[in-house]
Order: sequence, then C-alpha cells, then structure tokens
Amino acid sequence: MKVTVSRKAHFNAAHRLFRKDWTDDQNEAMFGKCANPYYHGHNYELIVHVTGSIDPNTGYVMDMKVLKDLIKVEVEDLLDHKNLNEQVADFSELIPTAENIAVVIYNKLKPHLNKEHGLSVTLYETPRNFVTFSG
Ligand code: NI
Repeated sequence: MKVTVSRKAHFNAAHRLFRKDWTDDQNEAMFGKCANPYYHGHNYELIVHVTGSIDPNTGYVMDMKVLKDLIKVEVEDLLDHKNLNEQVADFSELIPTAENIAVVIYNKLKPHLNKEHGLSVTLYETPRNFVTFSG
C-alpha cells in the first residue's frame, strides 16, 4: 500500500527566457514577454509529493518536518529572491523555464530521500501554468 504525502513551498525569482545564439527578435518571437532583456519575476508555487509505504512504527510515510527542512535548504535557499539566469549555476547554460526548474528541483531533492520513495515535483509559474516532473 502506497500513500503520497505532499508539501507546498514558495519562492520568488527573476528570470529571462532566451537563447544566447538567437537575436533579440528571434527570442521575443519564441519567448514573448519572458524574453525581456531586463528580466521579470514570478511567484513560484512548489508542491513536492513523496510516495511510499506507511512506516508501521510512526504511521508516517516520511516526517514532514524533514521534508520541510529539505525543501528549505535545497530549493528555497538556492532559488528564493534570485535571478535564476545570473545567480544560479544550474541555469548558466540551461533556459530557466518552469520545465527546467522543475527538473533541477527534482534532482536536488531526490538524492536526499529514501531510495524506496517516489518523488514528484509540481511547479506553478503562474496560478494557471504549472508543470510536473516525476523522474
Ligand atoms: Ni517568465
């Protein structure tokens, strides 16, 4: 029997979606307002889902305090109030789309979880646009 526990988190970050090898016009045609050379911000909402068996000793799939602290150290401390393109090494060569941010977050968290636990990351870039990565 598997149960999924989830934790919500939040961070603000600035980004710009562009390819260095494209002109400004090409970037604006592809990425629209998100190509703005002066950057812009999003209020990102993150939901981290961990799936596993209930530990008969504790009744928990995992201790949510541990998950909370893990998200703080691995995600919020890294991304909150940052310019993703300029200040986060993971995006020095990777376009910081919601898709790529979700994959980066997944890869930061996965090594710290119990190997038997499934991980899924849902990232809202706006209230209506969100992506999910499950490995
Ligand atoms: Ni954007």
